[in-house]
Amino acid sequence: MDALEMLLTRRSVKSYWPDRMPDAELIEKVIEAGTFAPSGRGKQSALIVAITQQAVRDELSAINAQILGTTSDPFYGAPVALLVLADSTSPTHRDDGALVMGNLLNAAHAVGLGACWIHRARETFETERGQQLLRDWGISDHYVGIGYCVMGYGNKTPRPATPRKADYVHYIR
Ligand SMILES: Cc1cc2nc3c(=O)[nH]c(=O)nc-3n(C[C@H](O)[C@H](O)[C@H](O)COP(=O)(O)O)c2cc1C
Repeated sequence: MDALEMLLTRRSVKSYWPDRMPDAELIEKVIEAGTFAPSGRGKQSALIVAITQQAVRDELSAINAQILGTTSDPFYGAPVALLVLADSTSPTHRDDGALVMGNLLNAAHAVGLGACWIHRARETFETERGQQLLRDWGISDHYVGIGYCVMGYGNKTPRPATPRKADYVHYIR
């Protein structure tokens, strides 16, 4: 698949086979693409926490559900959660983190995996439990949550892209 086709055909996958863990090499390829995202002043302010341990994945999903006010799994059964954090001391940290998220989502599609951005990482890592997890992982409390790229093998065809809005682009010629 060429790069442009990949960008146009990626869709958010919102249902996964929970027991189909992608091979580690495939996960690493996606992560590597994430680390090559551009960043303000080249500071690489973002950080990726690759979560495949089910207990941690389940706990983060449960916290996310609590914040969302639901009892369903906000990670849609995905066995992998790539948590993107970013160093809040960098003025571009949220932009840097969002670009890492974009690379992860597109790279997952490029290697044949499904993925979706799941929100509420910021709120999660502002909680006492979130702060404790950062300490357990040896990550400074300067880091804030940007998003989760949940990933795995989808078990439903994602919804097709909605038509692009008519006024998406203004050409100044
Ligand atoms: C900042 C951001 C936050 C998102 N948060 C969630 C989320 O919490 N849960 C979810 O199911 N999808 C989430 N999405 C995915 C969007 O629902 C999805 O990108 C949108 O519906 C367009 O679909 P597409 O990605 O297939 O083009 C998020 C996307 C972005 C960019």
